[in-house]
Amino acid sequence: MDGRYEFQGLLGTGGMASVYQAYDHQAGQSIALKLLLPEEARSERTRLRFLREARTMAQLDHPCIVRVNDVGVDGDRYFFTMELCRENLAHHLRASGPQHPSTALRYMLDVLSGLYQAHTAGVVHRDVKPHNMLFGQDGRIKLTDFGIARVIDSSGGIRITGTGDTLGTLAYMAPEQRMNPRRAGPPADLFGVGATLYVLVTGRRPLDLGMAGIDPLIMEQVPSQLRSLIRVSTAHRPEDRYPDARSMAADFVRVWEELSPDLEAATTLEQFDADADGTIIRLEEGSLSSADNTGESG
Ligand SMILES: Nc1ncnc2c1ncn2[C@@H]1O[C@H](COP(=O)(O)OP(=O)(O)O)[C@@H](O)[C@H]1O
Ligand SMILES: [Mg+2]
Repeated sequence: MDGRYEFQGLLGTGGMASVYQAYDHQAGQSIALKLLLPEEARSERTRLRFLREARTMAQLDHPCIVRVNDVGVDGDRYFFTMELCRENLAHHLRASGPQHPSTALRYMLDVLSGLYQAHTAGVVHRDVKPHNMLFGQDGRIKLTDFGIARVIDSSGGIRITGTGDTLGTLAYMAPEQRMNPRRAGPPADLFGVGATLYVLVTGRRPLDLGMAGIDPLIMEQVPSQLRSLIRVSTAHRPEDRYPDARSMAADFVRVWEELSPDLEAATTLEQFDADADGTIIRLEEGSLSSADNTGESG
């Protein structure tokens, strides 16, 4: 690892891993390198989870999902490398304040595009929030951090594997996922997009959205054109949300067109379909869920 990658600085750190910028001498460019914290690498369950995260991302080839290039183990260091992105949406929001509705919709259309690909491949992200959405070098928003993603079977049911865990970020989490993480399917990811849209345009805490049912003032702070989008995306019951990421995107495009009539909004849904045009490989549950099989119950 030391021969090929030269550390250039810390980009972010979480409970399990740190992300560094590093120079890849072989590729001749800077990349992002996610390294499992040494103390975490002692647990086999965590190591497998980490490698599964890398493999899931590597297999989802889409312009709005951060690309994984290399997965490796060097002694007791577990890492994978990714395309280098810029800041995440949470930092961007903190630095520049609430976003214009059409800008926020454009960002969320990218996220929906990536999610549509993941869902079609049978992958549920389960941690959709601004911190896991990055500005790419190409200007598009890219979804990252599939650390707690799970693979669903082809009938659409979610495999019960291991015991439930409470991972995920509460404030952006759909009610059914809060109740039972194993019940989080694609609609839980759509909830995360709706909650993110709310935060982007209001600059408020995502938890406030949960109070919208009892406090009508909360929705009044949302630009009027976006109210119904946010209401439907974050409906309490998963069956009351949009049926899938593409139909949600279609509604987002419709509102975006109303907001920015001068822009060629129609190309956005075409873009959506073109992005997903590559062959979608259905991920095999067995190949990715080894961490579950080796005792998440432990
Ligand atoms: N490919 C990347 N390019 C640039 N920054 C990144 C990249 N991946 C992650 N980061 C930064 O590191 C942070 C944590 O990465 P993430 O994969 O979400 O780890 P965690 O599992 O700890 O949340 C992100 O919010 C982002 O700021
Ligand atoms: Mg993260």
